[in-house]
Formats: sequence, C-alpha cells, structure tokens
Amino acid sequence: MDDQPTLTATRIEAGRLLLRKGRDDDGEGLIETQTDERVRRFLGGPRAQAEVRATVATVGAATLLVADGCYIAADRESDDMLGVVTLSPRDPELPGHVSEGGGELELSYVFRARAWGKGYATEACRALLRCAAEQLADQPIVIVTQTANLAALRLADRLGFAQLGTFEQFDAEQVLASARLGTFLPQ
Ligand SMILES: CC(C)(COP(=O)(O)OP(=O)(O)OC[C@H]1O[C@@H](n2cnc3c(N)ncnc32)[C@H](O)[C@@H]1OP(=O)(O)O)[C@@H](O)C(=O)NCCC(=O)NCCS
Repeated sequence: MDDQPTLTATRIEAGRLLLRKGRDDDGEGLIETQTDERVRRFLGGPRAQAEVRATVATVGAATLLVADGCYIAADRESDDMLGVVTLSPRDPELPGHVSEGGGELELSYVFRARAWGKGYATEACRALLRCAAEQLADQPIVIVTQTANLAALRLADRLGFAQLGTFEQFDAEQVLASARLGTFLPQ
C-alpha cells in the first residue's frame, strides 16, 4: 500500500466536536496527553514532563501534530483540545496486519482524562472515518490496542470494528481489530 492517498480535509464537523489540524496553542493539551499517568497507562507509561515540555517549546505543537491524518478533537464551543484522533498507515514492519504487505490505515485515539465517559471519542472517530470513506477508496482500517485496554476496545466495538485476534508487542498482548472503510459512508 505504498503512495496511499491521505486525508486532505483541514476541518471535519463532528457533532459536539470539531476536528481540526493542530496549532501551537494545543501545547498544554499535547503535554497532558503525553504525561498523564491515566492517559498513558496502556501506551508505555507517562513521558517525563520536563522532556515533553522542552520538545513542545522547541518544536511547537503545530509541527508535532502536523502529520497527514492527525486531527485535534476540539470542543465545538470553546475550541479547547479534548483529544487527538489519527488515521495513518500502520508501519509494515510492526506486527498486526490484515493485508499482505501491511501499510493499512490505522485508527488511533487519545483523549484527555477529563473528556472521557461522554461519548466524545466515538463522535470524533465516526466523523473522521466518515470523512475518510468519502475521500478514499474502500479498504480495511485497523485498530491495535492492548487487550487490557477495555475502554479502547469498547470504543472499537461501538465503531463496528471486529476483533480478529491477538499478538504480542511491547511486552503486552495486543488486539487487532478491523472494519471496512466503506461501512462508515452515510446511509
Ligand atoms: C480510549 C479512550 C479514547 C476511550 O474514551 P471513552 O471516554 O471511554 O470513549 P467515548 O468518548 O466514546 O465515551 C464512551 C463512554 O461515555 C459514555 N457516555 C456518557 N455520555 C455519553 C453521550 N452523551 N454519548 C455517548 N456516550 C456517552 C458511554 O456510555 C461510554 O461509557 P462506557 O465505555 O463506560 O460504556 C480513552 O479511554 C483514552 O483516551 N484512553 C487513553 C489513550 C488510549 O489508551 N488510547 C487507545 C490507543 S488506540
């Protein structure tokens, strides 16, 4: 799946949220998602606050979040960053693929702890996948998350992803889940 087309939208309407590209004033939100123990529990643990703060100050949050397919999920009213949703090719060198050769688009989601339990992540992911389904060819999308990450698995399930199996990565059991992009087109 080389030279795969990527999402070109810069703003995506998402119900109570707006998906937009990252800005430098998302710095505090980005630092929180990298350093909060609760958020990083299944993502390798919290990163050192001073290190992350220095990187954000030097490089800038907008640059750190600039990758194709990476969107800030912002509160529609306040425009505050609630989380980050990303749809980008999974590294073919990593385990966890459904296509020969790998490189499938992988959905990932990370929200600030204060934004959990409100349905925001479901809303943001559905909007991102719908936009991708309207722009890109039908293809399998994957989610990879630790078996122990029950909130992430419930979210994958709500979105309609089927669990295909498990594998080991980062010394933990991971679930591979997949859905066809075409299923997110508006009915
Ligand atoms: C994974 C993660 C985004 C899930 O967040 P979440 O808040 O559970 O998911 P949603 O925003 O979709 O909210 C759904 C929950 O809100 C509840 N809810 C409350 N009000 C709601 C509303 N108005 N609409 C929909 N759901 C609502 C739902 O019942 C559901 O609760 P449940 O899972 O206990 O049944 C979050 O746990 C997280 O950021 N974790 C850290 C990062 C991480 O591990 N990411 C996974 C890597 S891929």
